[in-house]
Amino acid sequence: MDFWLIFFLLFGVFIIIFLILALPRKDCERISSIEAIDDPDVAKAFGRMANTPPFKLLRKKVISTIRKLEPSGTLIDIGCGSGNLIIQIAKTFSNLELIGIDLSEEIIAAAILQAEKNGVKEKIKFEIGSVEKLPFPNDSMDFIVSTLSLHHWSEPISSFKEIFRVLRKDGVCLVFDFQRNSRKLFYGLLTFATKIVVPKPLKRINEPLGSLKASYNKSEIIQLLTEIPFIKFEIKPYLAWMFIRIKKSSPSLS
Ligand SMILES: C[S@@+](CC[C@H](N)C(=O)[O-])C[C@H]1O[C@@H](n2cnc3c(N)ncnc32)[C@H](O)[C@@H]1O
Repeated sequence: MDFWLIFFLLFGVFIIIFLILALPRKDCERISSIEAIDDPDVAKAFGRMANTPPFKLLRKKVISTIRKLEPSGTLIDIGCGSGNLIIQIAKTFSNLELIGIDLSEEIIAAAILQAEKNGVKEKIKFEIGSVEKLPFPNDSMDFIVSTLSLHHWSEPISSFKEIFRVLRKDGVCLVFDFQRNSRKLFYGLLTFATKIVVPKPLKRINEPLGSLKASYNKSEIIQLLTEIPFIKFEIKPYLAWMFIRIKKSSPSLS
């Protein structure tokens, strides 16, 4: 290949890495976001967005993390949305009992339809319900996942307490969400996406920028989780998002 072509390619990659890593992080107040996913147009637009490459990449990452933990028993996806992740889990792991739970009746109907289209309807039970009051007994779940839902939970401490209550001893919970103090570059990208790229119903509710602004910082999550006795957790922050991993090493106190 031509020397100058290689030179400019490498220079371009260097500039992109520099912009991502060197640009300052945004420091702003949290603004809570109401998703309005019960609006059928919003639910449909969100379903379309969830099929774009960044979301597919996220699901790949979550699935490879789950695989490493060799799951068995029952797995629930909290705030499962239109079911993309749990459907992928059903296609990947044949040994798991799967439950998708979401606040929105509209989105659960879409998830059931999607599971049917993907031939996994019989493998997943979908339920309408809230993370604040999970409809499961103490110590009953082996694995819990949740992606891009935490920033919508109105009671995050009681939600994490609920998660801890239903996890069985040695059970694991993986929560993935945005990180509010992301690089300014990421705010720029999401502002562009929200104002220009996404379908109208999402522009109307200021998404996905609203979700980024409603998300937490690592220090806030540490503060939230340390309020729960006996909880063990690890937070892995990345450029604009973070993985929270919770492990329960003792049974619930009933
Ligand atoms: C941005 S969507 C993410 C959907 C899906 N997890 C994904 O990654 O594509 C957030 C979802 O969380 C759900 N949600 C919000 N608050 C919730 C709560 N308190 N309990 C359960 N689900 C909730 C919303 O209805 C919505 O479907």
